[in-house]
Amino acid sequence: MRLRDVFVDFLKKKGINCISTSSFKVLDEDPIQFMARKFASGEFRITEGRGRYCFDLDGNFADSCSYIAGRFADGISCNEISDILNKFPFIVIDCSLKDMHSSKELSSLKKQIQKTLSVVRRYMWDDRLVVAGFDAGISCRRYARTEDFLSEENFKRIILLDPGGEDFFQGERADCYIIGGIVDRSGNKRGTTELIYRKLVRNGFQVERMKILLRGDVVGVPDRINHIAEIILKCVIDGVDVEKAVYEVQNRKIARWRLRKEIARNSKRIEISGRKFRVIERSFFNNVRKWLRITEDDFYRCAVDMGVMVLDDTLISPKALKIDGSL
Ligand SMILES: C[S@@+](CC[C@H](N)C(=O)[O-])C[C@H]1O[C@@H](n2cnc3c(N)ncnc32)[C@H](O)[C@@H]1O
Repeated sequence: MRLRDVFVDFLKKKGINCISTSSFKVLDEDPIQFMARKFASGEFRITEGRGRYCFDLDGNFADSCSYIAGRFADGISCNEISDILNKFPFIVIDCSLKDMHSSKELSSLKKQIQKTLSVVRRYMWDDRLVVAGFDAGISCRRYARTEDFLSEENFKRIILLDPGGEDFFQGERADCYIIGGIVDRSGNKRGTTELIYRKLVRNGFQVERMKILLRGDVVGVPDRINHIAEIILKCVIDGVDVEKAVYEVQNRKIARWRLRKEIARNSKRIEISGRKFRVIERSFFNNVRKWLRITEDDFYRCAVDMGVMVLDDTLISPKALKIDGSL
């Protein structure tokens, strides 16, 4: 359940069906999520009264309200739901390898972290995002080292997302998910997430390394930090399976990389009048479009680029093909 839904449930239990605030920032995003975030972080309390902007619990404007959320010394506070709030996980971005990055990569790292905060805000609140070893100029928790944060908490389960890990992430619940603050634009940083793993283990933390796969392969899984955070939160908070979460986050460029691999794996060699061709069934598109975010145009373009002909299924069926693959 996202923070917004937890907040709505809580208000309903209190008999509150309409909530207001005087903060104009409420107009910038989903108003209930905005108030939920401020409430969960302890900034807002709820008390009787009427603010400038009133909303029903679906986030629609309402005419009047008997409750207001704002910066009050008294009133209903998040302590009343601390048990539920404590179950939300932390997302940690470990930037201990920032010295390996060029200035362009560092600015991309900053942007990805800022986008990660937007993702975190859709599911939880700012305090659940921790950035270690880098100033991204955002309102989240900041630490010099991931270890400094981990030693303040008493986590039972910590998962480091690592494309080189041996175990697959299947939506496992953990107290804390660590993502490498690594941007792969230049140089070869392949396998560098493992350096973060070794550093954490060396410093006495028990961490599981898990990779996110799409049908058995990392190709097709978006690797930007904000995308990895979104995949995790979709799985553990919305309860979506990994394949669906990856699909929802994937962009067409990344989908096309995987499509090429799938075309190479699934195309067949045939021989017509002594000339050899690689071909793939037209229906193949309908199979892959269910899990790759591609258009029919992407399919034909990739096939053409790879020198693979798209043929009607009946022409490639075992009946149509002779035993040696000729027509
Ligand atoms: C751009 S990736 C850097 C990956 C790095 N070059 C490597 O090979 O270890 C940034 C971070 O996103 C996470 N990540 C990216 N793809 C992932 C995948 N398929 N599975 C698990 N984590 C992934 C990791 O935490 C990684 O450190």
